[in-house]
Amino acid sequence: MEKYIIEGGNRLHGEVEISGAKNAVVAIIPATILAKDRCVIENVPNISDVTILFRILRDLGAKVTYLTKNSVEIDTSYIAEPVVPYESSRHLRASYYFLGAFLGRFSEAHVSPPGGCNFGVRPIDQHIKGFEALGAEVTTDYGFIHATAKELFGSHIYLDVVSVGATINIMLAAVKAKGLTILENAAKEPHIVDLANFLNSMGADIRGAGTDVIKIHGVDVLRGTTYSIIPDQIEAGTYMTMAAATGGDVLIKNVIPKHLESITDKLLQAGVEVTEYDDAIRICRNKPLKKVNVKTMPHPGFPTDMQPQMTTLLSIAQGTSIVTEGVWDNRFKYVDELRRMGAKIQVDGKVAVVEGIPELKAAPVKATDLRAGAALLQAALCARGISELEDIHYIERGYEDIIPKLQNLGAKIKKVSTPDSILSQAQ
Ligand code: EPU
Repeated sequence: MEKYIIEGGNRLHGEVEISGAKNAVVAIIPATILAKDRCVIENVPNISDVTILFRILRDLGAKVTYLTKNSVEIDTSYIAEPVVPYESSRHLRASYYFLGAFLGRFSEAHVSPPGGCNFGVRPIDQHIKGFEALGAEVTTDYGFIHATAKELFGSHIYLDVVSVGATINIMLAAVKAKGLTILENAAKEPHIVDLANFLNSMGADIRGAGTDVIKIHGVDVLRGTTYSIIPDQIEAGTYMTMAAATGGDVLIKNVIPKHLESITDKLLQAGVEVTEYDDAIRICRNKPLKKVNVKTMPHPGFPTDMQPQMTTLLSIAQGTSIVTEGVWDNRFKYVDELRRMGAKIQVDGKVAVVEGIPELKAAPVKATDLRAGAALLQAALCARGISELEDIHYIERGYEDIIPKLQNLGAKIKKVSTPDSILSQAQ
């Protein structure tokens, strides 16, 4: 088993470069299926979610070739069967994007995506509503979702809840459907815009991505393209709160400051200095943190994927902050771990009352999901003493080179492997 050992209490300082966006690349990789051709994707982050998607593509018969560390050629010409079995898809929620991509190319899809996750039920009723509106018949059988159509036709679709996944899946299925699809109450996240830009560079006709009405004129053929993934909004946000938590001074490079506005705003309210440049942002703190109330919402609201990191930051602010989770039902599980480090946080349903304390204390803790893992790592970086963080595979799903990036900022962190047998003897 692998874990991180972190000696806390060191100010982060220096520069860090942000990688390509996880939630964009996990949609764009399946989207390459839509062209029976070769695509070159640049700025691909080296994270385990990407490794899993490439394994699925290769199992399907695609050729995936790394040209450089972050640039990959994908040739999906030889994919014949639109099927992803549970053994391949079970480790990744985003494997459900194969449904939309297969429907778009083959008018048929058979995928067995995983069910719930560590922060609540994750229904896909809105994805299915969209596929059906486009003319597909959707059934489930032994965990498989089967979607089939003779032909897909454009349609007027209203999402009952703002869903990133449904917006993406419907765009993938509709891009080659006959006629016009109008998708209302669509999600507006930066990765939605990135996917639309990618598809348009393949020859699609998608307008309005980034607003709540997306119009998709179906086209007959999509061709291969070369495309560079946008920087990761949440990775950047995580380094912002880590810098603030450690009283550091960090220049975060390769970002789109506009994507970070809701995070910047909360950090400014908390008394952190934030300076925006064209494609970089500097975070500096040398005063105590102040309490702030935060509510997560779909973009452009404060992102739910920054909620654990922000709550952790507020646990060492002066005063009591209220954090309300507005997207997921159960995204405060990590708070039990944070309490073991001394945090004073009470959770009631979707609301956390965070009573700031002067300092967190080191402890052995476990990541419960990706962003919770990042938040606990942030807690360990600023806590007094040496912490051990387990279940780090969650963190490595979404943060490229996190150890060298943090070491370069002066953090005392290392990854160690403990043979499972020794651990079980000790238990
Ligand atoms: N929802 C429905 N029905 C649906 C789809 C969603 O009721 O058919 C509900 C969900 O239960 C949730 C809300 O709508 O309460 C929003 O869910 P959404 O579909 O937007 O989430 P997602 O597409 O499954 C993506 C990100 C998540 C991020 C959310 C919200 C990817 C691969 N995942 O999930 O990212 O939290 O959007 O922004 O893009 C992460 O990166 O750590 C992560 C979990």
